[in-house]
Amino acid sequence: MREIKQELYGETSGVKEEVLKELESCYLLEVEGTSLISEELARKMAWVSELLGREVAVYINRRGKVVAVALGDHNKVVLPHFEGRRKTKRLAGVRLVHTHPGGSGMLSGVDWAALAALQFDCIAAIGVQDGKANDIYAGFCPPGREFSAEACLIKGPLRLADLEQFNLLETIEAIEKQARSAGAAQPAVIEAAERVVVVALALPPEKNGELPPEESLAELVQLVKAAGATVVGSFMQKKSRIDGTYFIGKGFAGQLSLQLQELRANVLVVDHELTGTQMRNLEQLTGVRVLDRTAVILDIFAQRAQTREGKLQVELAQLRYRLPRLMGQGGALSRLAGGIGTRGPGETKLETDRRHIRRRIKEIEEQLVEVERRRYVQRHGRKDIPAVALVGYTNAGKSTLRFRLLQSVGSQEANWELEDRGTDRLFATLDPTLRGITLPGGQEVLVADTVGFIHKLPHQFVSAFRATLEEVQEADLLLHVIDASNPRWEEQKKTVEEVLAELGVAERPRINVLNKIDLLASGASLLPLPDGNPWVSISAAQGTGLEQLLLEMANLLQQDSRQVQLFIPYPQAGVLNELYKTVQVISVNYREDAIVVDAVVSNDKIGRYQPYLDIN
Ligand code: GTP
Repeated sequence: MREIKQELYGETSGVKEEVLKELESCYLLEVEGTSLISEELARKMAWVSELLGREVAVYINRRGKVVAVALGDHNKVVLPHFEGRRKTKRLAGVRLVHTHPGGSGMLSGVDWAALAALQFDCIAAIGVQDGKANDIYAGFCPPGREFSAEACLIKGPLRLADLEQFNLLETIEAIEKQARSAGAAQPAVIEAAERVVVVALALPPEKNGELPPEESLAELVQLVKAAGATVVGSFMQKKSRIDGTYFIGKGFAGQLSLQLQELRANVLVVDHELTGTQMRNLEQLTGVRVLDRTAVILDIFAQRAQTREGKLQVELAQLRYRLPRLMGQGGALSRLAGGIGTRGPGETKLETDRRHIRRRIKEIEEQLVEVERRRYVQRHGRKDIPAVALVGYTNAGKSTLRFRLLQSVGSQEANWELEDRGTDRLFATLDPTLRGITLPGGQEVLVADTVGFIHKLPHQFVSAFRATLEEVQEADLLLHVIDASNPRWEEQKKTVEEVLAELGVAERPRINVLNKIDLLASGASLLPLPDGNPWVSISAAQGTGLEQLLLEMANLLQQDSRQVQLFIPYPQAGVLNELYKTVQVISVNYREDAIVVDAVVSNDKIGRYQPYLDIN
């Protein structure tokens, strides 16, 4: 027998030499005439498939030549890289015939996904039973069309003996002809915009997060929109627990892949954090790019970051997120070959990628330390002006309120346009920005806007976005902005409070600001439960309720600082310089025995000056 030099694709290690030879000999079996596959080739594939209990796949071109042979596992097969020719009026010129060991030749969702994605001439599956080719099904999809199940064609069940009568080439030509006559107006398959399907699991109540799954899914839809993509479908599966391999159930994932095709979706977003393995498995099975909630949030952050610090932090969070998931980041169509296929980067490439990412993480961390150090110096170089931080659930109206506050007190820096805010831009805020305003009574305060909190906020965000959250940690007063028009405002409030506790500021003076009261039915009022913090109702958009809020802020800040008299002995006169820098100095009196300073000192700094309080 002459030596065969053709490559065998897939997982061939551990397979006996003579079986590999059998497989390799498939390359020699040309398919004559107009047939789908020759009897001999089908028999050989069935035999190997039965022997190994694994899938065997061959690519055949229109001249009947076998151009690739691959061996898979029991339900999928790794295919060689295949550049699908995405033409609007022509198919790829290659058909894929594979076995389904121990089962029927009915095409799976995965098969259809591959067919639509790669525009094979056709995909055929041979059901193998007792080592014999049993039923055969062949699926066809017109090229360049919007995918719909109706437009597809299934031939089968065919028997080996019937194959002669079925003219494959004629069928393919007819399909292409039809596509051509449909004219140039035919839309291209590839669309610029991402078409997203979202999916969630409805777990038993005790296993769900704070939000019921429907609400959480609705929020995810908003997030995907905020990221700039179009949501074309939304699905939920009831399940008692998360599936370790696919996250959703495998059967459900199979059905979903058909839906994805029908909806022409190119991205699947899962309302939960996925492991790299789950992501990869889902990509293989569904044939589309799979993202999780975290990736979407990171994407929004990436689009919104403006300052160097914000950008560095987003990159850092993205890299940290990607590192453990490198295996899952597929995307390339070659890897989706019907879900039947996957071609991850080789181990060496993975290692290089990992090393590169680790190096970049280190670089960014160093740069961030420097940026943060500079900010710290700036912050501590300024006088002891109390800082107010706006916190709240995303979309609660923090930025709108901050704008109003700056505007209401005539801040020179309220120079951005309210109109620019657009509608419901989730996470519009990413960069910490501090501006000063003056409260009734003359107290000057700095107002910082912070990033919106959201439920299932992955833990890495809390550390990754220290820049905005630092403002919260250092604030003397927190304004918790609550969207009173949202039916879930109480849960959102709870989520925010949990994050505040995580940041160690649960006890910080706080005002609950019920915003968007203009959206409540007139006469309606919310009856919030007392939680020890004052409540103020406002409409940031209309500018109502702000006076009351400013008064309340002044009131709370006064409680937070007090006027004291300090006695500084001359040998320690340097303290006076420090006082000038860090607290509000009212008067200085140089007496014989000491320098006497009247100053307003916040409660958290009073400890530092304790020794100078007690001299007299
Ligand atoms: P994130 O950046 O996602 O954290 O959002 P945010 O809390 O800063 O909310 P933002 O100020 O961006 O407001 C979100 C949306 O709510 C915008 O469309 C605002 O115009 C709208 N909005 C804010 N305050 C009010 C209000 O008092 N009434 C009404 N009707 N809409 C408001």
